[in-house]
Amino acid sequence: MTRKRIPRFKTGISGFDKLLKEGIPEGNAVIVEGGPGSGKTAFCLHVLHEACKKGKKVLYMSFEEPEDRLREHMEDFGFQPEPMEKKGLLRLKRFNALDIARSVEALLSEAKKELLIDLHPVLIPKDFKPDILVVDSLSSISSAFTGEENRFRIYMEQLFRYLESNHITSFLIREEAHPAHLRSTYTDRGEAISFLSDGIIVIYNVIYTNGTRGRAIEILKMRGEDFVRKIVEFKLVDKKGAVVFPEKLLKGNYQLT
Ligand SMILES: Nc1ncnc2c1ncn2[C@@H]1O[C@H](COP(=O)(O)OP(=O)(O)O)[C@@H](O)[C@H]1O
Ligand SMILES: [Mg+2]
Repeated sequence: MTRKRIPRFKTGISGFDKLLKEGIPEGNAVIVEGGPGSGKTAFCLHVLHEACKKGKKVLYMSFEEPEDRLREHMEDFGFQPEPMEKKGLLRLKRFNALDIARSVEALLSEAKKELLIDLHPVLIPKDFKPDILVVDSLSSISSAFTGEENRFRIYMEQLFRYLESNHITSFLIREEAHPAHLRSTYTDRGEAISFLSDGIIVIYNVIYTNGTRGRAIEILKMRGEDFVRKIVEFKLVDKKGAVVFPEKLLKGNYQLT
């Protein structure tokens, strides 16, 4: 019996795709991790714009910025979200993390000991089946589950299982003031998410000792795919979007945060 090869997803950010041998295996759940302002939202908006151009259906679940802010963000990069929304390829939707936490609570108490809950109603709009999903951010959801470590973990496990069985390629943003792997200890929540995910992309805020700042990006993990292990320069460019320089290593004295 021959095993069917998993098709690869190209982000369309050419410099980034050069870091991968072929692309992101479709259906992978990829964490996009980085500090505040590092460019996580911008990177994901660029990825979804490229995906829409190729006719993929994309859902952007925002727990942070309202829909119009995301549209403006895209327009600053020279993208036009509205025609894609009209075509039914792009759905930008803002959610309230507390609502999600409450719904999950309710589902879990109904399900009693059963850990299997149907996430569909609290996750994906009924009339929209995405190929690509962006969640911005897991950190916002996590903070709505205050004191409910276990419940957040169950929710995450269900979310990853749901995405896998529906073959949805996902980009799950995680805001970390200090990327987890740069610290000596992992937080419980972070560890659970890293363990469940198929891939991790890290975006860094770079501080040079001369006082200037920059950005950098790295692929830390990508299950089932060969990739370049390098921290390279990353820029957000007006009218262009996310630009990755796959050959440009950081120079001089700097610190990553
Ligand atoms: N059109 C643009 N051109 C250049 N830089 C931009 C543009 N849009 C956003 N940025 C920069 O990106 C930063 C925020 O990026 P964002 O993706 O929202 O970060 P994060 O989601 O990681 O917090 C802003 O502080 C701004 O400096
Ligand atoms: Mg953001």
